[in-house]
Amino acid sequence: MILLTGATGFIGNRVLQALSLKNMKVRCLVRKQKTSQNPNITYAIGDVLDRDSLILATKGVETVYYFIHMMGNQPKGEQKKFDVLDRIAIENMAAACKINGVKRIIHLTGMRNETEKLSHHLRSRKEVEDIIRNSGISYTVFRASMIIGHGGAAFDILDTAVKKFPIIPVFDWEDTHVQPIFIEDVIKYLVECLEKKETLNKCYDIGCSQVLTYKELIQTYAEELGLKRKYIRIPGSWHWISSFVLGKLSPVNPNVVYWLIESLQNNMVCEGNDLNKIFGFEPVPFKESLRRTIIQTTKV
Ligand SMILES: NC(=O)c1ccc[n+]([C@@H]2O[C@H](COP(=O)([O-])OP(=O)(O)OC[C@H]3O[C@@H](n4cnc5c(N)ncnc54)[C@H](OP(=O)(O)O)[C@@H]3O)[C@@H](O)[C@H]2O)c1
Repeated sequence: MILLTGATGFIGNRVLQALSLKNMKVRCLVRKQKTSQNPNITYAIGDVLDRDSLILATKGVETVYYFIHMMGNQPKGEQKKFDVLDRIAIENMAAACKINGVKRIIHLTGMRNETEKLSHHLRSRKEVEDIIRNSGISYTVFRASMIIGHGGAAFDILDTAVKKFPIIPVFDWEDTHVQPIFIEDVIKYLVECLEKKETLNKCYDIGCSQVLTYKELIQTYAEELGLKRKYIRIPGSWHWISSFVLGKLSPVNPNVVYWLIESLQNNMVCEGNDLNKIFGFEPVPFKESLRRTIIQTTKV
């Protein structure tokens, strides 16, 4: 039995679809009751901040998919405290897993360069990853930068910026490097690793083969959409104002927008690994991931 957390989210929902296609038995941890026609899928009401609910939800579970972040959950006026909530949540989950003998935690987190001063968001992501790695439970961790696909917070912010602004202001982050990845490739790694023992107790950076600056990433997306855009370089980060505007215009929770924009200062480039050999595929090139995403939008 698998326990899937974050089943209503961008990643978890897609992992659920992929696991259902494989006829796997999945219990989804949700805060609001849901039902499924598929007998292999059940729902357990719970909250990662409520340890007792996790002790119940992890009974009879072999593998936990941990796809939780708290960036939009904190009480008003305490926006910075998502890190405290994220820490409590993963400590609760690790404790519940130990009580019920869960064998493995599979987690997706943010990519980072260990030599840089990390943003608040990436520091918190690292802390959650460290708690998993030091829990004594086997793990597989994947680290991604921007995931290309509608419904992903970072991509939806990019989509809003490119579609809404004929003149795009470019701030201090213009030369930060990033190595994006298509959502379908992320889901393949997350699901196929279940059957790959060599991924036990390993952490992997995942990305397409192209490394781009954020400015190149924006320009390429505008070109693929067929939009003519002008770019104006403005010194400084203008973090508050840009997150305020994009928090209003994009579908993403404004708190999440704020912390993701702060993370634009951090380079997200993959460290080498043997994933292509283990999984037998290479993530699709960046432009191809944009094309597939644009086609998916026009089909909806
Ligand atoms: N999206 C990206 O571009 C990206 C890039 C790199 C890494 N990641 C990583 O991928 C993971 C999943 O992110 P995502 O994009 O799928 O996030 P998401 O769409 O915001 O989903 C978050 C999920 O967490 C659940 N959740 C939040 N608080 C909870 C609580 N207290 N108890 C139980 N469930 C709770 C939400 O459920 P409700 O429906 O109840 O709110 C939702 O299903 C995160 O670890 C993130 O760091 C994402």
